[in-house]
Amino acid sequence: MDRYAVIGNPIAHSKSPRIHTLFAAQTRQALIYETLLGPIDAFVATVEAFRAAGGRGLNVTVPFKLEAFDFADRHTPRAQAAGAVNTLAFGPDGVLGDNTDGAGILRDITVNLGCPVRGRRVLLLGAGGAARGTILPLLEASPATLVIANRTAAKAHELAAEFAGSSHAGLIGCALAELAGLQFDVVINATSASLSDAVPDLPTGLYAHGSLAYDMMYGKGDTPFMTAARQQGASRSADGLGMLVEQAAESFLLWRGIRPTTAPVLAEMRASI
Ligand code: ATR
Repeated sequence: MDRYAVIGNPIAHSKSPRIHTLFAAQTRQALIYETLLGPIDAFVATVEAFRAAGGRGLNVTVPFKLEAFDFADRHTPRAQAAGAVNTLAFGPDGVLGDNTDGAGILRDITVNLGCPVRGRRVLLLGAGGAARGTILPLLEASPATLVIANRTAAKAHELAAEFAGSSHAGLIGCALAELAGLQFDVVINATSASLSDAVPDLPTGLYAHGSLAYDMMYGKGDTPFMTAARQQGASRSADGLGMLVEQAAESFLLWRGIRPTTAPVLAEMRASI
């Protein structure tokens, strides 16, 4: 059977094996998907051993997404833009590196949550790896504006400048305080603030009528960002579990050429957390 795995450190609690096993059963694909614990100083050796043992592809998570980028022989445009790889596909012509995170969040927002991005005002909070990975897919969805706001303003300016060349109008980088007086239809929290149960310090009045607040993090119940956003006027809020399932579906499509139906898998994952 074709072998796949998710490599990370730590990795034991990854939900990816369950998600991909459900995808495989649904699409009748004969494959095995496991976890692979990567020693911090031995990513390349671990990946090479997996590939030599017949592995066909890997998902890559913290802290190896940059090393995975360097490991790949070729990159998809979205991986190139993200500067990080979460999906490796081993083929006869080498190792392809892809990044499905941005496509995953876009699909969760636009399809699962039924919230259009085209022509809307979008705010991306954060300027780290998680934010960077979503910028190209967001821009390709043609929002009216995309504002990248970060606690450290310089990093937001740098990111916006980097993507400005892609000729998309309305791309701005700024500090969180500079958001005062602006309104958005979609607000995405790509900061790591939730890891410490914190929320970004935002001016009031950001949320337009009918707006969606989206947290890339997820957990049991609402995240602190979701709760704060609704208190500040967001009409709806969602966590990142749908993004997790959708980025997995996009990886599955790359490897197997077939897109699984995500709704039943997302429902099962939701019930299990
Ligand atoms: P990741 O790869 O998850 O994006 P990262 O590269 O460390 O992680 O980036 C973390 C992001 O969350 C940064 O944009 C960080 O802001 P700074 O650049 O100012 O450090 C942001 N962040 C973390 N904690 C935050 C908090 N409490 N409030 C606002 N932003 C926060």
